[in-house]
Amino acid sequence: MTKNILVTGGAGYIGSHTVVELIQHGFNPIVLDNFSNSRPSVIDSLEEITQQKIISVTGDCRDAAVYDLIFSKYKIDAVIHFAADKAVGESVQNPLKYFDNNLNGLMVLLAAMERHDVKHLVFSSSCTVYGNPDNVYVDENSPLKSPESPYGFTKLVGEQMLDNMVRHGKKMRVVLLRYFNPIGAHPSALIGERPQGIPNNLLPYITQTALGIRAELSVFGNDYDTIDGTCVRDYIHVCDVADAHVSALTLLSASPDSCIEAINIGTGKGTSVLEIIRIFERETGVSLNWKFAPRREGDVPEIYAKADKALHTLNWKATYSVSDAVKHAWEWEKKTQN
Ligand code: NAD
Ligand code: WQD
Repeated sequence: MTKNILVTGGAGYIGSHTVVELIQHGFNPIVLDNFSNSRPSVIDSLEEITQQKIISVTGDCRDAAVYDLIFSKYKIDAVIHFAADKAVGESVQNPLKYFDNNLNGLMVLLAAMERHDVKHLVFSSSCTVYGNPDNVYVDENSPLKSPESPYGFTKLVGEQMLDNMVRHGKKMRVVLLRYFNPIGAHPSALIGERPQGIPNNLLPYITQTALGIRAELSVFGNDYDTIDGTCVRDYIHVCDVADAHVSALTLLSASPDSCIEAINIGTGKGTSVLEIIRIFERETGVSLNWKFAPRREGDVPEIYAKADKALHTLNWKATYSVSDAVKHAWEWEKKTQN
């Protein structure tokens, strides 16, 4: 029987790619999004890619009535909870916005799941919960650090709330996926990352600079104790991230009644900012205008995932290279700005 999966934030960057994977694996996704950081036209693009009608509900994750409507209409087997605000800088300016959307939103969802007896949840977490790690190659047992931003705090507290519920006997099956640095776009170039205003993240800043939308890329810091002085991250193709959610649903189906697992979603390899620039120039043939700039406050010098647990528990590993991801991000950017 086809499983119905509620995908909150399913029109967003990672959510939309996950909807494609879900359909390709025979699931029936039901998207819930308020389009605060995405456009309704994403749903049309999803229909074009999958050649299938997408069930989409416009609504807010903090609205209990929306869940009652969805859970009563469809027999939901599991929820993938992407919906959240994610701009680190904005969260410093306006922490309450983040506590409300990311934490209150999670609580309203959990209460609705309890009312409607839905027990399987995949929660979008982040490598931000490791803060600035003592060992840069982090596994899931690495200590969780005090987050650098209110955004990071909401991910840590979200994880802890879920852990607390399960530890105190709530019959829920939860997978916490800790994404590292998702980049790239769908190979069709029909969906991808679409930041509002000036991008904070490296890849959209690079592609917008290459197109002339931004004058110059600032490389934040060149004196870190890393391979070339610039920060190192574990960049992972968004389609690989999306695929991990399908594997997480399979794991939930085979898990004990009450369980919670945190799993890193990364490639296990680190790439520096200068290496990303070189890969971009090589893959696209476009020469990038960039300069060194002072360090960005709160940046972790180096972090990447130990991804063995994902392989063992999810039978998942990254299949795309960073070069593929950079190429796909470029194809998407060119198409979107046309
Ligand atoms: P995104 O902003 O592209 O997608 C989030 C979607 O949720 C958007 O479509 C937005 O409109 C929707 N949304 C937000 N608040 C909502 C609400 N109250 N009700 C309904 N819909 C709402 O972000 P993304 O990059 O796809 O991230 C998805 C999840 O993954 C987030 O929880 C984010 O914190 C987490 N995450 C992202 C990254 C990353 O680098 N992109 C890394 C680690 C974790
Ligand atoms: C990557 C590297 C920058 C822009 C953020 C969130 C984190 C997680 C992933 C959600 C860093 C450098 C960037 C620029 C640059 N999201 N950079 N010039 O900081 O690893 O993580 O996204 O959970 O919580 O903080 O990603 O893409 O912003 O930066 O030199 O214009 O690129 O200094 O070294 P980051 P990023």
